[in-house]
Amino acid sequence: MNPPNLPLLLLLVFASTINAQFFPKPYCGSTGNFTADSTYETTLTTLLSSISTTKSLSLTYGFFNTSSAVSGTSQILYVIGSCHGDLTAESCRACLDASASDIRRLCPLQKEAVLYSENCTVRYSNASIFGTVTTDPGYQLSNVNDVTSPDTYNTALRSLLDGLQAEAAGGDSLRKYATGDVPVGLYTIYAMEQCTPDLTEQNCRNCLATVFQRLVVCCAGKMGVKIMAPSCQIRYETNDQFFDPVGEPLPPPPPAASPRQLLFGRLQPPSTAPSWSQRSSSTCRWNP
Ligand SMILES: *[C@@H]1O[C@H](CO)[C@@H](O)[C@H](O)[C@H]1NC(C)=O
Ligand SMILES: *[C@@H]1O[C@H](CO)[C@@H](O)[C@H](O)[C@H]1NC(C)=O
Ligand SMILES: *[C@@H]1O[C@H](CO)[C@@H](O)[C@H](O)[C@H]1NC(C)=O
Ligand SMILES: *[C@@H]1O[C@H](CO)[C@@H](O)[C@H](O)[C@H]1NC(C)=O
Repeated sequence: MNPPNLPLLLLLVFASTINAQFFPKPYCGSTGNFTADSTYETTLTTLLSSISTTKSLSLTYGFFNTSSAVSGTSQILYVIGSCHGDLTAESCRACLDASASDIRRLCPLQKEAVLYSENCTVRYSNASIFGTVTTDPGYQLSNVNDVTSPDTYNTALRSLLDGLQAEAAGGDSLRKYATGDVPVGLYTIYAMEQCTPDLTEQNCRNCLATVFQRLVVCCAGKMGVKIMAPSCQIRYETNDQFFDPVGEPLPPPPPAASPRQLLFGRLQPPSTAPSWSQRSSSTCRWNP
């Protein structure tokens, strides 16, 4: 290995340590518990394990949903898994699988739960969650560093995020995901917005608008922010292209290409090394 690669490797290690610190983030619902070994539990286990065997094409686009009646009760159990829009079907499946076992371990008896991980979100409920906007519980992470010219920066950021909101909401029923970048002074802002594709265009817009308001309140002027809600999320970073560019909605290229893209994608000057702080949404009615 030649010496110039060393600082980059150190940054990569640093970045993954930071991410490991804040994920997985579980929110165990407070609406009620099921009984261990009940039909509710076996139904949940069956539905979550179907992630690893599903042949659904929608996984290619980062979305998984399934539901089943809970026998002996009048309830239906609904499960949604969503991945960042730039993951391959295999990475998405691996992420959802890992999150499914995390959520069962961390929320063992709750009838509903949400778990955020770095690249995907898994949730389930006995109330219908398909096609509905859910913005709580929210989870917010922000870089502790502030940008140096917030006025110019925020104007550029705002216009980038407005455009991505419209583009993501305008996506089809397979994927509602948009990424983009804009130069501002010495910086380049990279941003991503995404909704679960079961939302209508208007619902996706509403979800992203709610999340954007949270961003303004919690994190204006920060160099990087990631705000997650069950139905949608927004992330931006400064001088860090954290996403793999995805062109048209086709199965992504073979995995062989990604390590290289990732290596360059994570490159960033030391002054913007992500040093995260976290806040929980104040409107959250869930347990931490
Ligand atoms: C979900 O479970 C809770 C707690 O047992 C119950 O109060 C609620 O009525 C259930 N919801 C539905 C739609 O069955
Ligand atoms: C997934 O959600 C859609 C509604 O957005 C619904 O029509 C469909 O039946 C669901 N699929 C499964 C397997 O439950
Ligand atoms: C639900 O189960 C969790 C443990 O998984 C427990 O901490 C909590 O008190 C239970 N809630 C109710 C209402 O029984
Ligand atoms: C999330 O995805 C990125 C890019 O594909 C990958 O480098 C990273 O290892 C993933 N994180 C986890 C926890 O798997």
